[in-house]
Amino acid sequence: MSAQFDLPAGVGLADAARKSRWPARMDLAQSLSGLVLGLFMWGHMFFVSSILLGKDAMWTITKFFEGYFIFGRSYPGMVSVIVGGVLVLIVLHAFLAMRKFPANYRQWQTFAAHRALMHHGDTTLWWIQVITGFALFFMASIHLYQMLMHPGLIGPFESSDRVWSGRWWPLYLVMLFAIELHAGIGLYRLAVKWGWFVGADANAGRRRLQILKWAMTAFFLVLGLATLAAYIKIGIEHESRAGERYTPAWVQPGASK
Ligand code: HEM
Repeated sequence: MSAQFDLPAGVGLADAARKSRWPARMDLAQSLSGLVLGLFMWGHMFFVSSILLGKDAMWTITKFFEGYFIFGRSYPGMVSVIVGGVLVLIVLHAFLAMRKFPANYRQWQTFAAHRALMHHGDTTLWWIQVITGFALFFMASIHLYQMLMHPGLIGPFESSDRVWSGRWWPLYLVMLFAIELHAGIGLYRLAVKWGWFVGADANAGRRRLQILKWAMTAFFLVLGLATLAAYIKIGIEHESRAGERYTPAWVQPGASK
């Protein structure tokens, strides 16, 4: 028998197109960008909620990010650099996620049928992530553009005036629910996908992760709502003097510039 007949399965293999590694690379990039964004949001929530400890605490955090305690004066442009980085990550993350959205009515119908048929909690979670992710595309862009262009207007009075007198609170209220659902589900799905913290018994691990996920979402929602309420309260009290900058009593007037 000739070699040609010994290896019938290999016939034509040399002409076949090579399998691309790009789908796997894009999946990894989507996971990594989501992880960084999720961790950033936890940090963000803690920094923004410093207002619950008082105006001076929030002022100190703000000035720290502007380099005030290193250079002796504020450089709000440093905040813009961070915002720029977050924006790039969001665009990358959204671009990669869009590949997986149902693209037309037929695909949407197929997904809806699968979801109803399987009736699996994690499939429903994925759908919630698609909807909140889509909404965040718009809402986060509005917030980030403001932060990018006016990084110097962050502070106890400056932020509270924006939230209340500037009428930003409705956006923050909706965005808070969208981001906490999206980030919580996203980090949970990452852990399930890559097997982090799952343990030997996959089903028990998944149940544990689900409890942790809902606990985190509830924690950050309560923290976020309390924070928003604090900014609204200060904003209402400060309404007649909206636009005035905050300087702690222990700082010389003008020194916070
Ligand atoms: C480096 C980028 C960011 C900076 C510097 C920043 C800064 C701030 C600040 C200072 C506030 C207080 C209100 C104000 O001053 O207007 C705030 C509120 C908020 N931000 Fe951001 N932010 C950033 C990115 C994001 C992103 C990417 C999201 C979500 C996609 C987000 C979601 C929110 C939410 C939901 C609130 C309301 C907080 C609450 O209700 O407790 N932020 N942000």
